[in-house]
Amino acid sequence: MEVVICPSAAVVGELAAAKVARVCRDVGPSVVLGVATGSSPLSLYEHLAAAVAAGDLDLSAASAFALDEYVGLPPGHPESYASVIARTVTEPLRLDPSRVRLPDGNAADVPAACADYERAIAAAGGVDVQILGVGANGHIGFNEPGSSLSSRTRIKTLAERTRADNARFFDSPEQVPTHCLTQGLGTIMAAREVVLVAQGASKADAIAAVVEGPVTASCPGSVLQFHEKATVIVDEQAAAKL
Ligand code: GLP
Repeated sequence: MEVVICPSAAVVGELAAAKVARVCRDVGPSVVLGVATGSSPLSLYEHLAAAVAAGDLDLSAASAFALDEYVGLPPGHPESYASVIARTVTEPLRLDPSRVRLPDGNAADVPAACADYERAIAAAGGVDVQILGVGANGHIGFNEPGSSLSSRTRIKTLAERTRADNARFFDSPEQVPTHCLTQGLGTIMAAREVVLVAQGASKADAIAAVVEGPVTASCPGSVLQFHEKATVIVDEQAAAKL
């Protein structure tokens, strides 16, 4: 695991985008991106979007797979991850929407939808670079503490802390869904390269546990210590407990 400590949050996004862009150029037009929601990767996406707008990066033939989706939000809900990914990734990076996929949080047959998602990732050739944030409790995707380290895409119950953290996106805390579909830790570990970004003091405990703690399901992100090509890019505040 490579850890890069940046002087500011702005530099985190810039360096992480440079790393992702390098993979895109190395792999070529059909690169497969793993994309995350949350505020952490927004600056990374902005830098990638600037490179696309400047003609330095062409992602029009790229595919993207999101990590997770809430269960039960109506289609088109502005806080569904389908909407968030469309707004923050697909449109600014000029991806082809037909090649951007998320788990189906409204599937009638959840296990079948999860198996389909795994098959779609495999059919695309696997993820070349997975972008990740981290939850304050060490979750990646929506793999909450206690998740199997080899898990695959499945339904999960959101931890109360995660629901509270995400309540800011909804009109009231009760509106935060209780369940989600998420790629598993095994799915994430199968990506050929992983770039995790974190900024701010609220992530300092999680980053310390991910980077230096024991590898344990109690801190799902710690499994990345076993990844052959994982880079953690953080600002000084998020690095404060390393
Ligand atoms: C969310 C997402 C994660 C994200 C995390 C941190 O619940 N499911 O993919 O990494 O929480 O979010 P943020 O970057 O806004 O702190």
